[in-house]
Amino acid sequence: MSEALKRQAAAMALNEVRSGMRLGLGTGSTARHFVDLLSDKVAAGLDVICVPTSEVTAQQARELNIPLSDLETLDRLDLTVDGADEIDPELNLIKGAGGALLREKIVAAASNAMIVIADGSKLVEALGQFPLPIEVNRFGLGATRHLVEQTMRRHGGTGGIKLRGEAAGAPYQTDGGHLILDAFFGRISAPEALSIDLLNIPGVVQHGLFLHMCSKAFVATPDGVKTLQR
Ligand code: A5P
Repeated sequence: MSEALKRQAAAMALNEVRSGMRLGLGTGSTARHFVDLLSDKVAAGLDVICVPTSEVTAQQARELNIPLSDLETLDRLDLTVDGADEIDPELNLIKGAGGALLREKIVAAASNAMIVIADGSKLVEALGQFPLPIEVNRFGLGATRHLVEQTMRRHGGTGGIKLRGEAAGAPYQTDGGHLILDAFFGRISAPEALSIDLLNIPGVVQHGLFLHMCSKAFVATPDGVKTLQR
């Protein structure tokens, strides 16, 4: 999908930002447009303080002179704007293709509202076509992978599990120093139960199911930007 559509969705989210807000800044190519557009408003006098969800977003925001803080200084945020890899009809999400899922979830959970911005290719009837990113501790990788695979099979997952970056010769490392297993479920029929079961595996740090966190999505299609609300 085109960058123009992603930017249109980002522009809609910008309309929700008010002076004085504490904002969470997402990660990924769509969130990047939002940060870019936000910087114009900041330059024009909009007073916001932002918490980035990744080192990449932090760097972009710093270069654009957007005031940054962290969740030690601020304990709550007003709004987080972020992208997603899949959005189901209840606005449950899969996130983490960019590897920032842990910080993204911490920031979203600290926010009074989460708005997702995306193009229409992200809308699905059921989550799971997109591989679910599962962030895991390096220690015990083989054992954790085995338990994740068992859990996946119990939940009807039909595909395999890949250690992100392994095929390219070096495992991908998250900002927190962890690894990511991408699990190809096919269809996730009971996301809440899956979430609990994955988090019960000791080596799992977090997973990319964002359930009941997003309250609004701006989804850009060639026919215009749709507003989805829960
Ligand atoms: C980052 O870890 C992800 O959660 C992204 O927010 C998600 O992959 C969407 O990215 P794009 O906007 O680049 O599709």
